[in-house]
Amino acid sequence: MSNPPEHAAQPAKHPPARLPAPLPVSINGKPYFHEGDPAMPLLWFLRDILRLTGTKYGCGIGACGACTVLLDGKATRSCTTTMQAAANHKITTIEGLATNALHPVQQAWIEEDVVQCGYCQAGQIMAAVDLLQRKPKPNDDDIAGIDNLCRCGTYPRIRRAIQRAAELIQGAKK
Ligand code: FES
Ligand code: FES
Repeated sequence: MSNPPEHAAQPAKHPPARLPAPLPVSINGKPYFHEGDPAMPLLWFLRDILRLTGTKYGCGIGACGACTVLLDGKATRSCTTTMQAAANHKITTIEGLATNALHPVQQAWIEEDVVQCGYCQAGQIMAAVDLLQRKPKPNDDDIAGIDNLCRCGTYPRIRRAIQRAAELIQGAKK
């Protein structure tokens, strides 16, 4: 009996692993592609790849709001948003909020001297921007609906700053 052909003795080869397709994402008006794991959190992409470290890591489970960014204008926890979910959307971080001048929310934050340690504040500001887009004249209940945490307890100053920002935005429209 003749020997089997040489190729029959070779171990079966696995098909080459396919790399995931690059995911396009817009960050602060600039286009980027993510070429790694689609399940990677957006927060990692912002902080570790783009070095946009204004967005903070607090809990990593969507509970504290320190990582809040705007996704198509809506306040979104970037620690629980995958790159797959962020793809083809417009992300705005604290670094992209001011254009030619400070955003009215940033201006109001300064006027009301909101910040204590500062760790939660980028997320608070992004959440406030979202609220004021939806509710130009928010009442206390609307503001209390922001569930971002502040361990320094700056909530009264945040409330005053959001009301001040609403005045600034209304005044700019007159
Ligand atoms: S770090 Fe994202 S919600 Fe806390
Ligand atoms: S200012 Fe310190 S956690 Fe909010």
